[in-house]
Amino acid sequence: MELDVLHHGSAIRLDGRVIPLCALWPGARESHRLLKARKLPDKTFELRMSNGDSKLLPDTVFLSPPLLIENISQLLTCADEEGVGLLEDVSVFCRGGRVEEVIPAGSRLSHSQREGVQVLDGRGCVVTPGLVDPHTHPVFAGQRSVEFGLKAAGATYLEIHKAGGGIQSTVDATRAASFEALEAQCWRNLSRLLSWGVTTCEGKSGYALETEGELRLLEVLRSVSQRHPIDVIPTLLGAHSVPREYRERREDYLAQVIHEMIPRAASEGLARYCDVYCEEGAFTLEETERVFAAAQNAGLGLRLHAEQFTDQGGTALAAHMGAASVDHLEAITPDSIAALAKSQTHAVLLPGAALSCRAPWPPATALVDAGVPIALGTDFNPGSSMTASLPLMMSLACMQMGISVELAWRAVTVESARSLGLKDVGQIIAGYQADLVIFDAPDYRYIPYHYGENHVRTVIKGGQVVSC
Ligand code: NIG
Ligand code: FE
Repeated sequence: MELDVLHHGSAIRLDGRVIPLCALWPGARESHRLLKARKLPDKTFELRMSNGDSKLLPDTVFLSPPLLIENISQLLTCADEEGVGLLEDVSVFCRGGRVEEVIPAGSRLSHSQREGVQVLDGRGCVVTPGLVDPHTHPVFAGQRSVEFGLKAAGATYLEIHKAGGGIQSTVDATRAASFEALEAQCWRNLSRLLSWGVTTCEGKSGYALETEGELRLLEVLRSVSQRHPIDVIPTLLGAHSVPREYRERREDYLAQVIHEMIPRAASEGLARYCDVYCEEGAFTLEETERVFAAAQNAGLGLRLHAEQFTDQGGTALAAHMGAASVDHLEAITPDSIAALAKSQTHAVLLPGAALSCRAPWPPATALVDAGVPIALGTDFNPGSSMTASLPLMMSLACMQMGISVELAWRAVTVESARSLGLKDVGQIIAGYQADLVIFDAPDYRYIPYHYGENHVRTVIKGGQVVSC
């Protein structure tokens, strides 16, 4: 039997399975670290914490039994083409990491079928698919609270960016950080997302802005994703900003993105998507097209930071090139909405960025009326959206953008999964991954209604309880 303490004491690995500390020790805080884990002869494990506490656990906690969540007051399957697929007083049975059955009201597993099954009570709870965040920047060093103060005093995001702060200041901190420090910070960022119910997220590079550094950030994402309960879908964002040393020769930087970063990220299997920040002060429409052509050529899917502050025409280009998503869209025009409506491209709306940059809300209802599929993301990043709360994004979408509660739920589950090309997450259907969230809430509308509060009781990833 192989047992190691992993990741600065925030998880253990037992025979290849990674189990986060929070699943072993409910109540453990982010600052708590495991020092030692050892198997004792009498079918127990001893865990020792850095603060001197220790705990004995029976070895059954590691066995990953089948899981039954019963008496669920409201289950959102998100399995229909519209609405949330609401079922009441049902149970969900999971085995081997997958949903096996949604058991209707009135039916129960027999006594013998329940043997060896981990049972959770869903009475008074809402159970949903694990949330899918389609847009995050989780791998960086440092933080930018000083800029937050400047913005609060009236500076704009673009002014700070053009003055050499913004993305560049995070690039300086990230370049200087060790691989281990980046892993540790990324791990904590993913744990924050998990605590709000996220079980899968997209994650971008974009804070190194040179070939080896961007590949290093994608390696950090891969290393953390392999061990953390959250699955990360990786995106190369080498075209996030032109770094300081290339300001006078941006063509050389573009050549590096096109001829080095993209081919290597693709051939080394480090990225599934390529993203560009198409904006005043970042990359032009023509540059975006060149980067996208190279990405397509290398077999990467396309996502775009488009029309965040100004209309650059990025949406129409991305839609025309078959991008998976266009993200932000605060400044999108009616013509671009029409172009988007003719495509298969998802709109990923990021209310946290609009809120923090005091930008107008993206025209969500116009997009919905045009038939564009909508997903919602946190845009978790140190500059424009320092939040890991996807439920808060639902609240903002409902309260400020005119999105219905049902559409908001779809936008963080089935539609965000589709925007990432994922075929077996985002819905509760037999055969899909058993990624589920149990919310302490009397009604699914309660969660965006009672905003800013964390209603998550339990997160389940691949049929295992991963946070308590
Ligand atoms: O999505 N707009 C570009 N990228 C991020 C912000 C990155 C940063 O400010 O560090 C965004 O808002
Ligand atoms: Fe972003």
